[in-house]
Amino acid sequence: MKSQITLTSLYKMKEKGEKIAVLTAYDYPFATMADESGIHIILVGDSLGNVVQGQKTTLPVTMDEMIYHTRIVSRAVKHAMVIGDMPFLSYQASIKDAIYNAGRFLKEAGAGAVKLEGGASVSELIKAISDASIPVQAHIGLTPQSVHKMGGFKVQRDEDRLMEDAIKVEEAGAFSVVLEGIPADISKKITDNLKIPTIGIGAGPDCDGQVLVLHDLLGLNLRHLPKFVKQYASLGEDARKGMKKYIEEVQKGVFPSKDHCY
Ligand code: KIV
Repeated sequence: MKSQITLTSLYKMKEKGEKIAVLTAYDYPFATMADESGIHIILVGDSLGNVVQGQKTTLPVTMDEMIYHTRIVSRAVKHAMVIGDMPFLSYQASIKDAIYNAGRFLKEAGAGAVKLEGGASVSELIKAISDASIPVQAHIGLTPQSVHKMGGFKVQRDEDRLMEDAIKVEEAGAFSVVLEGIPADISKKITDNLKIPTIGIGAGPDCDGQVLVLHDLLGLNLRHLPKFVKQYASLGEDARKGMKKYIEEVQKGVFPSKDHCY
């Protein structure tokens, strides 16, 4: 039987050079499949705003929605670490909000850790949450909750600032950091410079692990796919085919057949 992934297992993986595989999930069936497939971390990302709710940005996602999805995912997972993603405005306004909302992910939703976006500017919040015994994963580079400040979803190239952000979040007590939308050579330097594992998305091959949004990987996404995504399955195509066939068979009276009747 596979053992439960803990902070210690993640640090050991970095030490040994074993790559960490991370996926997002938002519901019971996919969380079960990801866990049974041997994924190390399941992130209940606020990307659910885009891929589940059909929003243009992650900004409208609420704490209660995140708790709802994280609770469902935690119920399914036996092996992976479950990380709950702190939505916009759940941590920025005060340390008190940040600790309280982070704590809700562990207390009400069964997560083992939380993630929040930002570097040096949120290091005080990371320290406070982590001091409250809540493991925190940081997220630097292209941070989707700052889309308006960044002027769009743009690759971040300011090496000094990115390095400073990475060092500050590590010093504040983050157990890991997501590097998003960062040129591969800068991500490598950050990864080599940190003791904590880096998890890349659009950040090249040298991070300690990789994360993808489940719907992108499985071909379930209705939006334009960014360059960094690799699609490993075409479930969307299969679903459409199945639905069309069902409609056709209902209309022709082929379904239900005798086999489907009592
Ligand atoms: O919300 C999310 O899914 C994320 C990952 C893409 C890192 O933040």
